[in-house]
Amino acid sequence: MFKETDVNDIIINPFRLVGGQWMLISAGDRDDFNTMTASWGGFGFLWNKPVAFVFIRPTRYTYEFVESCEGFTLSFFGEKYRSALKICGSKSGRDSDKIAEAGLTPFFTPLGYPAFEEAEMVLECKKMYAQNMAKSCFTDTSPVSTWYADGSFHKMYVAEILKILKK
Ligand SMILES: Cc1cc2nc3c(=O)[nH]c(=O)nc-3n(C[C@H](O)[C@H](O)[C@H](O)COP(=O)(O)O)c2cc1C
Repeated sequence: MFKETDVNDIIINPFRLVGGQWMLISAGDRDDFNTMTASWGGFGFLWNKPVAFVFIRPTRYTYEFVESCEGFTLSFFGEKYRSALKICGSKSGRDSDKIAEAGLTPFFTPLGYPAFEEAEMVLECKKMYAQNMAKSCFTDTSPVSTWYADGSFHKMYVAEILKILKK
């Protein structure tokens, strides 16, 4: 069962958690929602609030839900769910029920955001700032040719972490 945990009481290594363990970004409501795997992002403190940063390409189906909703969740899983995260990171919810295929069980947080029962930790986040990345803003342009050869830049979201649900 998930227990609400204060942000001051969790100890995490963001490099391992986001970059190594990966996460699911989920948005929508009980009627319609979607999720996708992400391994780029982070946590910090901004505007005197605990925040999460995520980077979503506008081509993702999940982008449409993150854009139209006030917030989203970040779900973190144990190694056992690596294959589920691979499915959610290689298939689009536009084309199939990848959540069922991945064997994940959705539930809805107190704010009504989608997350997954199998997660070890869920962050409930409210969007605060969103900005499209642009070639002209790179001070080191090396990522541009590596990651954006097709011109499809990520959109960056800064979101307040409202609740941490932990098992
Ligand atoms: C390990 C991993 C990390 C990923 N990280 C991101 C990310 O940070 N941002 C992003 O836009 N896409 C990322 N993706 C790609 C999306 O998860 C993928 O395109 C997914 O199929 C989109 O699903 P959707 O169309 O249902 O939203 C990642 C994929 C994998 C496998």
